[in-house]
Formats: sequence, structure tokens, C-alpha cells
Amino acid sequence: MFGPKTLALQKRAQEIIPLGKAKGAYLWDVDGKKYIDYRMAFGPIILGHAYDEVDHKVIEEIKKGILFAMTGELEIAVVEMIVEMVRLACSGTEATMHAIRVARAYTGRDLILKFEGNYHGFHDHTLWSTYAPVEAYGNRRSPIPVPGSSGIPKSMREFIITLPFNDFEGFERVMRSYGEQIAAVISEPCQGNCISNRTSQRTRKPWAMVTLSPRSAAKKRLCQLLDMG
Ligand SMILES: Cc1ncc(COP(=O)(O)O)c(C=O)c1O
Repeated sequence: MFGPKTLALQKRAQEIIPLGKAKGAYLWDVDGKKYIDYRMAFGPIILGHAYDEVDHKVIEEIKKGILFAMTGELEIAVVEMIVEMVRLACSGTEATMHAIRVARAYTGRDLILKFEGNYHGFHDHTLWSTYAPVEAYGNRRSPIPVPGSSGIPKSMREFIITLPFNDFEGFERVMRSYGEQIAAVISEPCQGNCISNRTSQRTRKPWAMVTLSPRSAAKKRLCQLLDMG
């Protein structure tokens, strides 16, 4: 049974979170009241809810069968459109988990650097300093990784470094000290999750995006720092 605070929160949520249907950029609650959906499932609904062309294609494919123990023709076509080598995953959690394993295997290193407030799925490797109140993260020069929930083994903390987002000096300092032990730096390219838990209070430019265009100075600097490791 949930505790009284959880139940109170659930009651509040029921009063303000609409349930019903969605189309395009809008949600309707069960009473027919219309809302703009600013979250769009945190990003994947990029064309809007229930986009007809996508829905028709998905229905067409479902009728042909979609779950096989081998690679289907459509998967090959999709991968060919993206890059040379791809591993498809069923969820973001799996994708980041696989990416971390590949990075660790390739570099022979264990440490992962992630930014406070960033969410990369529900696995134990990066569910650190994601939801906690910003005060729990300690001094920004020596941040404390805070587990996202009970059940994450304490020993996992050995493999994670957390840093405030957008603190380039802090990032440079950590890369100079630990770069040789870091297997990967993982980041949301655009802060999609931290805004809701006020972690952005710790960033200098709360709404900033890290633009990784080929010519950007930030990308050049990031590559130089990663090369150091
Ligand atoms: C940036 C980011 N990475 C990973 C995930 C995890 O994806 P999934 O819920 O498909 O496991 C999410 C989900 O919101 C996300 O926003």
C-alpha cells in the first residue's frame, strides 16, 4: 500500500493530468476539454499525435506480423537510411545500456560521465542524480552522485561521475583528471528532463542546447578533450 504522501500526490495528479485522446499538438481530457501538449511524450511524437500517414503504415505492418526472431526487411531498410552500422533497440533504456556496454568494451574502461538532471532510461548505469532535489547534489565542484531510486547497488556508484550540465570548466577539469578512465560521456543533446525537477538551477544557462554541428567550437573542444583520454 502506498504511504500517505504518495497517495496525496496521486490525488493531486488526478486533478491536473488530463486523460483522454490526442491528435496533432492537442490532448483532450475525458470531459472533452482541450489542452496543448507541450511534452509530446518527451520528444518521439515529433509529427504530432495520431499522425494519419504513420498510423496507416503501422497498421499495415502489424497485419504482416512484426515480431520475429530475426531481422526483417523493414529493419534493414531503416538501418541503411541511418548510418553504416546500427543496433536497433526496443526502448531508449536498452539503447543507452547497449551504447554504454560498447563504449566500455571498446575502451576497456568502466567510468561513465553523465550530467545532473539528464535521464537516459531506467537501468542502474546512469540513473544517478536525475530526480533528487538539487541540494542533494552537493557542491558543483565536487558533485555527489545520487541514486535515482532504492534498489540500485551502491557499488554502481564506483562507475559514475556526475556533473552539472553546461558547466564547461567543470567538464574540462574532470576530463583532465579522469579522462583516461572514462569510457563515455552521455548527454541529452537538449535538456528534456531536468527542467521539470529544477536541476537547471545549477546550470548557468538553464535552457541552453549543446549544438554539435560539425563546425561548432563546442564540438571541436569536446573531441579534443575526449582524445585526451
Ligand atoms: C533522453 C532519454 N533517454 C532515454 C530515455 C529512455 O527511453 P525509454 O523510456 O524508451 O526506455 C528517455 C525517456 O524518456 C529519454 O528522455
